[in-house]
Amino acid sequence: MTDHMTPYSEDNTLVRVDLGARSYDIIIGTELLSQAGDLVKPHLKKDRVAVITDTNVMALHGAQLKSGLEKAGITPHFIIRPPGENQKSFEGLQAVLDALFELAFDRQDMVIAFGGGVIGDLTGFAARVFKRGCPFIQIPTTLLAQVDSSVGGKTAINSSYGKNLIGAFYQPQLVLADNNVLKTLGERELKAGYAEVLKYGLLGDLEFFNWLDENGADVLSLNPQALTHAVSVSCQTKARIVAEDELERGARALLNLGHSFGHALELEAGYGGDLLHGEAVSAGMLMAFEFSAAQGLCPQGDVSRLETHLSAHNLIQPHDLTNLIKAPDRLISHMDQDKKNEGGDLTLILARKIGESFVQKQAPRADLHAYLTHLAKTLPHA
Ligand code: GLY
Repeated sequence: MTDHMTPYSEDNTLVRVDLGARSYDIIIGTELLSQAGDLVKPHLKKDRVAVITDTNVMALHGAQLKSGLEKAGITPHFIIRPPGENQKSFEGLQAVLDALFELAFDRQDMVIAFGGGVIGDLTGFAARVFKRGCPFIQIPTTLLAQVDSSVGGKTAINSSYGKNLIGAFYQPQLVLADNNVLKTLGERELKAGYAEVLKYGLLGDLEFFNWLDENGADVLSLNPQALTHAVSVSCQTKARIVAEDELERGARALLNLGHSFGHALELEAGYGGDLLHGEAVSAGMLMAFEFSAAQGLCPQGDVSRLETHLSAHNLIQPHDLTNLIKAPDRLISHMDQDKKNEGGDLTLILARKIGESFVQKQAPRADLHAYLTHLAKTLPHA
């Protein structure tokens, strides 16, 4: 079936990721799990799929997806993993691959990632390496996965040296972002996802930041119109940047605003769930703005505006993470593992103002050390 024949409901919003032969649609709407069979079917060569998910998502939404697929004549084989970041490991990967071998899947079979960022990243990487590649579809069930990790084809598992260091670019065939599934998210996870929404305003869209200043509370209370707008604008921005720079040779790096600091905080916290990725990004974005201002690159007024927005929505800030920020040398050594770095120099995503970020190559280490030392001193001590 060709794209124009895909049965999209009028209530759904469509964002296209334009990558030539690897192009695909993101469908944003409600009740997509019950429509999943019809939406997925045009992409299948066989009437079966493997659905990789975790026990939490399975318990909450598995039955709905199962019946949505079955009513279109598709048999789902669920591969259900424990929840948690430690699934993004060689052990987690092996378990998924073994399950696909047990099902006697081949390269014509479709794999569906049904979960948050962990399941999406793990499934995408498993699909990439299973018999050198089988197609996959993303059905993200967290706000963070809907606006960021399910779109753009970054797939990975973690290494003891850092997050996402073993992976591949591998695009899905389709992304289904269903607003309804977000209703079961806890407040903490919702806020962590909201940080990635905010990122799109901060990195390149002042108008969207202004809209979030007005409507952020509606997004966080899952008002359907506000949520659809926020997810659609986020996906449009991501789709545009990925189309321009799929393999992150340039502009795509901007999507990592807040992530160099954030990944260092996550590594410092360990991956046991004490600090969610989006929480680390939330604090990391403010650190990126503060460090930009400390170098005279960004007005202090914009730092204050961001801080006010984070406070207004109770989002995580550096002052919530005192214990993780007390050792500047360790944070910098974590930042040294970042994939954006070149030739031993640090590359950071910094801000000129709200709505304009840029890549700083050879970021000045002494200034970074001074900023982190100053930050550690000014934070309240636990
Ligand atoms: N999460 C950043 C990217 O997809 O490039």
